[in-house]
Amino acid sequence: EAIEKGGFDHFMLKEIYEQPKVLEDAVRGRMSAEDGWIKLGGVSEYINKINSAKRFIITACGTSYHAGLLGEYLIEELSRVPVEVEYASEFRYRNPIISENDIVIAISQSGETADTLAAIEIAKERQALIYGICNVIGSSIARATHAGSYTHAGPEIGVASTKAFSTQVVILTLLALQIAEHKGTITTSYLRQVLFELKNIPNKIKETLKLDAQIQEIAEVFKDATNFLYLGRGVNYPVALEGALKLKEISYIHAEGYPAAEMKHGPIALIDEQMPVVVLATNDSAHEKIVSNIMEVKARSGKVIAIVNEGDTEIAALADYTIAIPQTEEILSPLLTVVPLQLLSYHIALMRGTNVDQPRNLAKSVTVE
Ligand code: G6P
Repeated sequence: EAIEKGGFDHFMLKEIYEQPKVLEDAVRGRMSAEDGWIKLGGVSEYINKINSAKRFIITACGTSYHAGLLGEYLIEELSRVPVEVEYASEFRYRNPIISENDIVIAISQSGETADTLAAIEIAKERQALIYGICNVIGSSIARATHAGSYTHAGPEIGVASTKAFSTQVVILTLLALQIAEHKGTITTSYLRQVLFELKNIPNKIKETLKLDAQIQEIAEVFKDATNFLYLGRGVNYPVALEGALKLKEISYIHAEGYPAAEMKHGPIALIDEQMPVVVLATNDSAHEKIVSNIMEVKARSGKVIAIVNEGDTEIAALADYTIAIPQTEEILSPLLTVVPLQLLSYHIALMRGTNVDQPRNLAKSVTVE
């Protein structure tokens, strides 16, 4: 087992550190920034049907559901087609409205989640085209879908999903760009700009991983907290949900992810000097709004841990702790912002002495309903 962990103390840490490599694997042969093309095998085969789709429905569970929320943002933003995202466990039991003009995207690391598989069967009965995004080759979900793309993250052993999430987001990004290119809702120069930046992401994740020691120090400060709040806006709202889920899963600290502006409708009542608030505050279109959300937290003596871009002195002056990561294209920002959150949960869990790779009550793949 020590050999399988490749020198890391836990599979989870190894898998966090594998992200630069697996993101390269996920895009290999599927895009060229230089020549400005994208070709996801599963998409090309059905491109006309996908192009004429009136709606996408994304269904998944757990971390894969959070990738789905990002998929919604990406597909709607780039191709202007409406997207709905639903927990597979809800979708399967509510007589969903689906037609043959819909494309259902099912996302699953293991490809064995019972609720996701059942949701696919219902969508299939209603003649929708089902597109799968799975990590495990030949898994039940991969076999049950009409088309799909593997994430190529390699085996993920830690129960808390990390590298699989990042590769799911990359596939959804390629998918959204390919649809948008076909529909003509993005320009070729924008496509090339994003693809060039996508090529840079593995190096920028490597830069972000260098912040590990700083994140460990922050973990030391907050390891005994009983609650955590995670805030984000836009593309970083699903990342806030994912950060909170990571912390809950492995450290057993109660954590909630919230859209930053929604904080005033409830969670703000929880804020006092005991409350750590992790804020995703990178330089995207919501930056100014996030600055005022941070002020609202500070006005109530909350402790702010802000994920910012390098050089952001404005937020550094307001927050208690800042973790400064490289700048990137806004739609790719979750691939970087999620990394410090994964590390923060890992270190806190480790300091609390929990079983990081196999947290209590959780299973890697839930094959019962
Ligand atoms: C379990 C795992 C999670 C995972 C979820 C969905 O709850 O512990 O890490 O996100 O199932 O799994 P899937 O394999 O369908 O992505």
